[in-house]
Amino acid sequence: MIVVPGPASQRLGRSIAVELGVEPYPLEWRIFPDGESYIRYPRPIEGESVVLVQSCPPPTDRNLIQLFLMAEGARKMGADNVSAVIPYLAYMRQDKAFRVGDVVSVEAVARLVQAVGIEEVVTVDVHSQESLAPFKIPIKNVSAMPALAEYLRMLPMKRPLILAPDKGAKHHAELVAETLGVTDCIVLDKHRDRVTGQVDIDERTIDLAGREVVVVDDIVSTGVTIVKAAEMASKRMAKSIYVACTHALLMGDAKERIKQSGVTSIISTDTVENETSIVSVAPAIASILR
Ligand code: R5P
Repeated sequence: MIVVPGPASQRLGRSIAVELGVEPYPLEWRIFPDGESYIRYPRPIEGESVVLVQSCPPPTDRNLIQLFLMAEGARKMGADNVSAVIPYLAYMRQDKAFRVGDVVSVEAVARLVQAVGIEEVVTVDVHSQESLAPFKIPIKNVSAMPALAEYLRMLPMKRPLILAPDKGAKHHAELVAETLGVTDCIVLDKHRDRVTGQVDIDERTIDLAGREVVVVDDIVSTGVTIVKAAEMASKRMAKSIYVACTHALLMGDAKERIKQSGVTSIISTDTVENETSIVSVAPAIASILR
């Protein structure tokens, strides 16, 4: 098996290779002055099972195109089969036409992934099961929640309370609570206006006084969802507020705004490589690839 860490997943790709006991493949790439990507396979891969590792957080479109070029190249170089670990699978939130005329992005992405010869996909905490429906190839969805929970276990928390900021995060929060053996798990009611993007969460009375609150979500993008939940927890006198998420996109000044809302610390995974990605999903992914 050859593991090829792509430009967006150098750290995770190498960790997966280490977990599998293989040398990471030294892919070459650069960006041309006009923004186009160049990819080169400097060593033979003919007849091998090739696993590409390329996440697709922002710059999403560039990362996706690089994944497609990697797959195209692997096929042309004679790989026996090509699979892709796409830890953050972009465009999955547009999994239906919410308004008349909406383009269902997941369908286009699924078709493109298949068109470049990717025969199998492993991803992490994909936004929804429905978004996987357009894929006609095997696709495995790994949860990062047990790994995040194991990290949380090491934090100085006496009576943690797990909080899902919306119904979509309920199963993630429940998995964290179950792994930690915590019984207090609350799901908030969030509403996002599809036109303005304005987010509101319910303000029902929850007793959080003196509690260590862990807000669990799959994605933190603009941070608006987390800020709303954290402000609510701060108002209710929570002792500390941690954020545990799989994909910390942290767009713009999200990180600063989240900190200002009273969050003690953001804990995320290496599906998106940045300063908050302190938990690795490499062991979970490697166990699927073995
Ligand atoms: C939405 O359903 C997701 O689970 C996240 O809650 C959402 O993507 C977070 O986005 P933002 O950080 O922009 O509020």
